[in-house]
Amino acid sequence: MLQFSHIEDAKKNPGAEVRLAGWVYRKRQSGGVAFVVMRDSTGIMQLAVKKDRVDADSWKAVTDTTIESSIVVDGVVKQDSRAPTGFEIDARKFSNTHVAEPFPITEYQSTELLLDKRHLWIRSQRMTNILKARSALFAYLRAFFAESRFWEVTPPVITIAGGESGADMFDIDFFGRKAYLTQSSQLYLEAMVPSLEKVYDLMPSFRAEKSRTVKHLAEYWHLEAEAAYYANEDNMKLQEDMVAYVCRRMATEQAALLDELGVDRKALGNVTTPFKRLTYADALKKLDERGVHKEWLDDIGADDEKVLTETEDKPVFIHKWPLKIKAFYMRADPSDPEFALCADLQAPHGHGEIIGGSERVYDYKELIERLKTYGLNEKDYYWYVDLRRYGSVPHSGFGLGVERLLKWMLNLDHIRDAIPFPRMINRVEP
Ligand code: 4AD
Ligand code: MG
Repeated sequence: MLQFSHIEDAKKNPGAEVRLAGWVYRKRQSGGVAFVVMRDSTGIMQLAVKKDRVDADSWKAVTDTTIESSIVVDGVVKQDSRAPTGFEIDARKFSNTHVAEPFPITEYQSTELLLDKRHLWIRSQRMTNILKARSALFAYLRAFFAESRFWEVTPPVITIAGGESGADMFDIDFFGRKAYLTQSSQLYLEAMVPSLEKVYDLMPSFRAEKSRTVKHLAEYWHLEAEAAYYANEDNMKLQEDMVAYVCRRMATEQAALLDELGVDRKALGNVTTPFKRLTYADALKKLDERGVHKEWLDDIGADDEKVLTETEDKPVFIHKWPLKIKAFYMRADPSDPEFALCADLQAPHGHGEIIGGSERVYDYKELIERLKTYGLNEKDYYWYVDLRRYGSVPHSGFGLGVERLLKWMLNLDHIRDAIPFPRMINRVEP
């Protein structure tokens, strides 16, 4: 492997001789001077290549180079207030590793073209910064759970029965038997609770929802957690602590990145607990006041979430949902059995739902009843039912859509930019 410096480090060492490897971001050349702005994974740097200061091969190489060519340069780092980032490399040697064909993405492009050329567009400064923020978010989520003494587990992607609506599952031919891509790992996490007590996983979930919205992906990264003896209250507290933790770390540790992305990091740092709570009934009332009429038992959809959260600056829980409109596994509130012990967490500024969570039915008979009520086949859930026969305990858990969280934290217009290669109803390439 060749040894190179990174632009970030070169900027800390004016006067040093460095070898940088990267890609051509911009170029202009006149007479005997070429100015190349190059980029690597750590930033951008201007190179000054002068005909009378480099050998003939280097001069030919810089003359031949094009936007997005891959290059290697040797030179001396100089502080220069005229250069785009305040530094410049006085080049001694310049070579092309590969001369790029004319780059198909220029300044003004349609969204569709940028999506078709996603494999090239991800190297843009904006996408690069988003990918870095995404990587940091994954690290912070994992750190939060490690610090909270949860075990990371790895449930299967291929399943037979789902936990959410069956209509939204992608089916696959599994050696002649119909199987599905997972839409949630919850039921498997519940199975791992008796061995590990507190578990989480971070992996893709798949939803065949025919929704064309700014917050639906067909493949998204789902963080799910499940914990023994957690009541719904403990579950909500865990979610608040997790969200506040990742916001705080992002705001303090990724300041430069957030500034480049135009994110209000002060606001992100102010996402402190506790979060506001709204009952389902209050949410309907609030919607009514804002001109959206809903009947009792109507779901609260993407447009309604926008109306509800537009005026908030911190996430809000919607809790006390009617049991009838929630999933079969949610436990009824023993003191008010019309309602489920559950909550959805809504991100502010119109972003909407990022988490769904609940306390689970842990009584055997109650679960059998619930499966019947929901028209689900007990046989498909034989192993899930078994969990209520051998050492059942009260427990709760939740699922977080990681791209939805990132969309809110970075204030992105569309969820597709929170993931490098989005899969949506009308897009499975590149
Ligand atoms: O609300 P959902 O459907 O809940 C569950 O799957 C539970 N089994 C989770 C659990 O309790 N373990 O999905 C959870 C979260 C949503 O709040 C949302 O953030 C995200 O997953 N999500 C999606 N994200 C992107 N695109 C989609 N199509 C999504 N569907 C759900
Ligand atoms: Mg939900």
